[in-house]
Amino acid sequence: MNESGAAGTRRRGFGIVGVGVIGAVHAEAIGLLPGARLAAVTDAVPGRAKALAGEWDCAAEPSLAALLARDDVDVVSVCVPSGLHAEVGIQAAAAGKHLVVEKPIDVTLEAADRLIAAARGNGVLITVISQHRFDTGLDELRRLLDSGALGSLLLGEASTKWYRTQGYYDSAAWRGTRDLDGGSLLNQGVHYVDLLLWAMGPAAEVTAICATQAHRVEVEDTALALVRFASGAVGTIVSSTAVYPGFAQRLEVTGTNGTVVVEDGRITRRALAGERHGPGSPGGQRGPSAGPTASHTAATPATPPAGPAAATPATPGTDPGATPATDRSAARPGTDPGATPATDRSAATPGTEPNAAANPGGIDPSSHAAQIAEFLTAIDQGRQPAVTAESARATLEVVRAVYESARTGRTVVIPARSVDGAR
Ligand SMILES: NC(=O)c1ccc[n+]([C@@H]2O[C@H](COP(=O)([O-])OP(=O)(O)OC[C@H]3O[C@@H](n4cnc5c(N)ncnc54)[C@H](O)[C@@H]3O)[C@@H](O)[C@H]2O)c1
Repeated sequence: MNESGAAGTRRRGFGIVGVGVIGAVHAEAIGLLPGARLAAVTDAVPGRAKALAGEWDCAAEPSLAALLARDDVDVVSVCVPSGLHAEVGIQAAAAGKHLVVEKPIDVTLEAADRLIAAARGNGVLITVISQHRFDTGLDELRRLLDSGALGSLLLGEASTKWYRTQGYYDSAAWRGTRDLDGGSLLNQGVHYVDLLLWAMGPAAEVTAICATQAHRVEVEDTALALVRFASGAVGTIVSSTAVYPGFAQRLEVTGTNGTVVVEDGRITRRALAGERHGPGSPGGQRGPSAGPTASHTAATPATPPAGPAAATPATPGTDPGATPATDRSAARPGTDPGATPATDRSAATPGTEPNAAANPGGIDPSSHAAQIAEFLTAIDQGRQPAVTAESARATLEVVRAVYESARTGRTVVIPARSVDGAR
């Protein structure tokens, strides 16, 4: 059942499955859209569903089956741990619900293929969240790419140097596991891997190393890869959750005519032959998180970097270009010497930092809202959405190739595939 929304559009009912960190962001994003209404939520922990339902005045269903049985749920947001995306999405597709699936599409290509087949087989549409494609700087980069202003692409670099504490990994049993999460690259870096492919086109081969240095987890907390794209261009990927204090996510694209640098969704550098060089055009992320470049304003981690026994803590004053040595000298007694300084911590309330570099909950819902709005338009128009499940699968394939290359010490060749938007 659909109510009438603003401007005469059909108002779609949403059900959210999994109401942890990102489920709450979906509720906010849905709340921003005149064409959407949150009808029901469910969670394996019923109290969580009840709490969010209370906030948004919607139903808390006791099970996935009960949520899927509702006529007023047209679209299901799949916000459960990554390794359960296909399992939940396949059931929702079988119930005839369109799917907004959180990134990554799942943790294995086999699961991704089952999910894509289920959506196709049941005639429902699916998008996989890659909200940063909707950051405003990316619109501008797309225009530069499509107009040929950059020339022939030569080099693309995607960097996610974030910081997560051991407490983050310990906060839920699925985090940092191979089967349900994946490492830094599959959870955190995947956003900018998606942007890298979206800008540079399909990857043809990957050579990588991974390391687990600063956390007790079964997956990598740092991944590095060299990429050769199908076009012949080359690139690099860096992803880490061990980089204190956490920096802006970065995408750099160089063509024969110049370079564009994106940081946290904003173009911070645009240097094209024939144009006056300078800092990038203003641009910015959607919503209130837009602000100064995060490279030098990275948020204070929610808790100090308490590394595992195996990790060598940073020596105070030796982390180049990050927190000044004086900041670190104030580490709280009894915590490890590289811990977040007391002065630093007093400067920000834990959990309120404006971006995700060091705060898992620092997610502005407006780019999610933009992606979901585009998805609703695709449903109305009976076309594929801007972010397809196939492109999310291509991103997963690169991540899996990184893991395979790191495991075997060999270059991994990737079959040719198209990627949304890429020329
Ligand atoms: N797009 C982004 O920026 C972004 C940010 C954070 C997380 N994510 C993705 O969202 C997903 C969830 O991450 P999170 O940080 O919100 O995790 P979380 O642990 O905070 O929340 C997951 C929720 O799912 C519930 N759950 C688990 N299994 C379930 C099941 N079978 N049925 C119903 N509920 C179930 C848990 O009880 C929990 O409340 C992951 O895939 C993650 O990669 C995306």
